[in-house]
Amino acid sequence: MTTLVVADVAGQSWDARDYAKNGRFVADLAESLVEWLAPQAGERILDLGCGDGALTEKLSASGARVVGIDASVELVAAARERGVDARLADAQALTFANEFDAVFSNAALHWMKRDPDGVLLSVARALKPGGRFVAEMGAAGNIAAIRGAIHDAMARRGYDAAQADPWFFPTLADYRRRLQAAGFDVVAIESFPRPTLLPGDISGWLRTFAQAFLAIVPEGERAALIAEVQGSLHERLANTVGQWTADYVRLRFVAVKKAR
Ligand SMILES: C[S@@+](CC[C@H](N)C(=O)[O-])C[C@H]1O[C@@H](n2cnc3c(N)ncnc32)[C@H](O)[C@@H]1O
Repeated sequence: MTTLVVADVAGQSWDARDYAKNGRFVADLAESLVEWLAPQAGERILDLGCGDGALTEKLSASGARVVGIDASVELVAAARERGVDARLADAQALTFANEFDAVFSNAALHWMKRDPDGVLLSVARALKPGGRFVAEMGAAGNIAAIRGAIHDAMARRGYDAAQADPWFFPTLADYRRRLQAAGFDVVAIESFPRPTLLPGDISGWLRTFAQAFLAIVPEGERAALIAEVQGSLHERLANTVGQWTADYVRLRFVAVKKAR
C-alpha cells in the first residue's frame, strides 16, 4: 500500500493544526463512548480512523495495547508525535486478521463513503471471534442544516456539491442490517440528536470539516463561499452572543463478531 493511494482516500484533506483548534470537541465528546468500550489492560485494540490520536491515547491509558490507523498522512504524523502506534492505512482495505479483542471508532465511519460494507468486512476480519466493535458516527440527518447550506451555496455558484460530498450518514436500520450482513451480532444501537457547541464560528468548522467541497472551488472564491454559508446559517445555528451550535445527530453501537 503506498502513501499516494491512502492519502487520496475520499479526496479528504486534514490539517492537524486546524483539527486541534476546531475539532478537538470531537474527541472530547467521546468520553462516554470509551466507557462503552471499557478497554482492559492487556487487550489489543484497534482505533479505526484515529485522527491525531487524542482519543487513542486515552484508550492506551487503560493498559490496553492500542494501534491506530488513519488515511491522513498529516494526522498519523500528529498521532505518532503523541507516542501513539499510528499507521497509515485505508480502513476500507485492512490486512489485519483475527488479532484484535476490540475495534473502536469515533467520528470516522461516515467519512468512509466509497465502501462502507468493505470497512465492516475489514473490521470483522481484524477482530478475534467474539471481539467487539464499538463506534460512533454521523447518523441520517447529521448536520442537515450545514450540509444543506453548503449544497445550496455551491449550486448557486454552479458547482456539483453532490459529487464532492464526502459523507455517508446511514439510518439506524440501514447500519444494523450492514453490521449483521458483515457477520456481527448487534448488541446495542442507538441514534440521537447531539446539538454541539462549536469552539468558534462556523467558518472554522467549514475550513476543517468541509475541505472536500472547498477543494473543488478556486482558492480565490473560497472565503466568499464560506461567508455565504455562514450568512445563510446564522439565524438557525448562532445565538445572540455569537455562539454557534452544529446540528449533529449520532449513531452509536456495540456489535460482536460472531464466533463461527
Ligand atoms: C473527524 S476525524 C475523527 C478522528 C478521531 N477518531 C477523533 O475522534 O478525533 C475522521 C478521521 O477519519 C479518517 N478517515 C477518513 N476516511 C478514512 C479511511 N478510508 N480510512 C482510514 N481513515 C479514514 C480521517 O483521516 C480522519 O482522521
